[in-house]
Amino acid sequence: MTITATPNKWNPEPEIISCAAEIINASGLVAFPTETVYGLGANALDPEAVKKIYEAKGRPSDNPLILHVSNYSQVEELVFTNELAEKLAGNFWPGPLTLVLKAKNIVPLVTRGGLDTAALRMPDNPIALALIEKAGKPIAAPSANISGRPSPTDFESVLHDMCGRVEMILDGGELEIGIESTVIDITNPKKILMLRPGGMPRELIEEVLKMKLDVPDSLSAKRSPGTRYRHYAPEIPVIIYRRDSDLKNLDLKSAGYVGTHEPDFETREKILFSDLKNYARGLFAAFRKFEREKFSCVVAEWPEENSGISEGLRDRIKRSSED
Ligand code: TXA
Ligand code: MG
Repeated sequence: MTITATPNKWNPEPEIISCAAEIINASGLVAFPTETVYGLGANALDPEAVKKIYEAKGRPSDNPLILHVSNYSQVEELVFTNELAEKLAGNFWPGPLTLVLKAKNIVPLVTRGGLDTAALRMPDNPIALALIEKAGKPIAAPSANISGRPSPTDFESVLHDMCGRVEMILDGGELEIGIESTVIDITNPKKILMLRPGGMPRELIEEVLKMKLDVPDSLSAKRSPGTRYRHYAPEIPVIIYRRDSDLKNLDLKSAGYVGTHEPDFETREKILFSDLKNYARGLFAAFRKFEREKFSCVVAEWPEENSGISEGLRDRIKRSSED
């Protein structure tokens, strides 16, 4: 059985948070809102609880999880920190930036997918922070979708994928960012690796670090197994629309369109966003809507801009369109 509750976002009711924290401390699963996407949470230090996350999602067990913390002192307990970690956390936490560092033994191998590193972030959502604080433990949480599907950015999507698979779902309404956090590996301060573009724009991180982020080579790509699997895809195909691409030969009359510009072809429905931030925020919900309403496919506009959320948005669109 799955219970649901709708805490007040800015002042979450202590009864609701205590109930959720008790479930976490009894090795159960709680889905909760963050500022990026909904998370599927368990006690990160309890291997039995973490195993349930992999089962509920149908996720390959070599794909490591992010540990969510509510204060910086937890970081020192979990990983070997360095000056960069302090600087980045000071500038960007709470927020959509995940830091990969050398793990301490307290982090179970199952939480870190067998790696010698662990990924950490402090989410910018009062409900998430209250839950982590009350549980008194770091909470391991991947996105709260069945593995491979679009991440949930509203309560109904979490319910659709997770009802009956988790003990509790906390309804935090629609979320601000809509795509997952940016993941960077800072284990070597001389060579910072961008493992996954996301909610925190690259140029803001580079400005604080005063250096460029590196692309992982094939060895470090192996160290971030999450990038290997099919991701974010609805059950209908996703077709990319570049401004110079010619889709005129395709029959798109039953397609759903998402983007920030009018397409030059006809579709069954268009969702036009006012800017890229709103596009990112609404992308996964649009995928799920077009899937639910049995559109033939999704046509997603390719964002050409080179700043802000566009790199993360391009990554999600590209990977959702791949087999
Ligand atoms: O915004 C987010 O990051 C959301 C919310 C819930 O916080 N979480 C999320 O988790 O997207 P998930 O599991 O869907 O993605 C975690 C990513 C994966 O690409 C995984 O491979 C990578 O982080 N990751 C986790 N631990 C890692 C580690 N030790 N080394 C390298 N990559 C790691
Ligand atoms: Mg995910």
